[in-house]
Amino acid sequence: MPQTPQQVAIVTGAGSGIGRAIAIELAQRGHHVVVADINGANAQLVAAHIIAAGGDALDVTVDIRHDAQRMVDETVSRYGRVDILVNNAGIFYPADFLTTDFDTWHRAVDVMFMGATKCSQAVARVMVTQGHGGQIVNISSVNAFLGAPLSSHYNTAKGAIDQLTRCLAVELAPHGILVNGVAPGFVETPMAVVEGVNEHTTEDFKQFYVKRRRIPLARPAEPEEIATVAVFLAEGTATYLTGHTIVVDGGLSVTF
Ligand SMILES: NC(=O)c1ccc[n+]([C@@H]2O[C@H](COP(=O)([O-])OP(=O)(O)OC[C@H]3O[C@@H](n4cnc5c(N)ncnc54)[C@H](O)[C@@H]3O)[C@@H](O)[C@H]2O)c1
Repeated sequence: MPQTPQQVAIVTGAGSGIGRAIAIELAQRGHHVVVADINGANAQLVAAHIIAAGGDALDVTVDIRHDAQRMVDETVSRYGRVDILVNNAGIFYPADFLTTDFDTWHRAVDVMFMGATKCSQAVARVMVTQGHGGQIVNISSVNAFLGAPLSSHYNTAKGAIDQLTRCLAVELAPHGILVNGVAPGFVETPMAVVEGVNEHTTEDFKQFYVKRRRIPLARPAEPEEIATVAVFLAEGTATYLTGHTIVVDGGLSVTF
């Protein structure tokens, strides 16, 4: 049984990891879910999983850099409205600042920051026309406010997302649209596998983050532990919360 009225939600990057977990939890809570991903086969699998479990989902193959408007058009054509957008799609690849060419560097900004911006504008225009508000949730990262090697492209894109959250919260508030974010720490998803190695399985990670408890909870998160916070924000039950990004990192960023 849904605990809030049934809503129509778009989740980008929902074919894998955190987005998949968010899509499944939203569907379990009775919402209609648009499973949007550049990997159409994965989006189909997630939508089929939701439908097999008795939920409702539509899979859409989309590159959020170019297809945000089509994604929203397909949503409105199927469901007649859109109430929730979760900007979750993301990519990570290590890039050395001194030697990386700007096309490579820019790809992260283009997918995560500009992709989220384009999806937010396309959805917000529909929400404003509908006239009954809505919720936008941006999946950020602790990298948005911490430094890290080989990550200036990724961290900058995530920092920009946090600023987008604040600015859209202000600009869309008169329309009843809440805009918030979630900043995960380490999460057990395919993104944790960098150049073939799961960073959570390395000796460095085990020593520093687990044994020495640089992560106070001494483990990476499961995607569902991020999804539960994203869904809380997406449902809009926290009606006085807007413009903020909730850090969900097992305590990582409060240690030093
Ligand atoms: N895994 C972590 O440790 C971690 C930590 C902090 C933040 N995050 C963020 O969480 C979000 C989800 O990451 P994840 O860990 O689940 O990774 P993931 O690789 O499992 O999932 C990312 C999904 O985004 C999709 N995607 C990539 N580019 C796209 C595009 N242009 N258009 C549409 N879809 C696209 C991918 O196909 C994939 O399904 C990302 O924004 C990521 O930056 C992840």
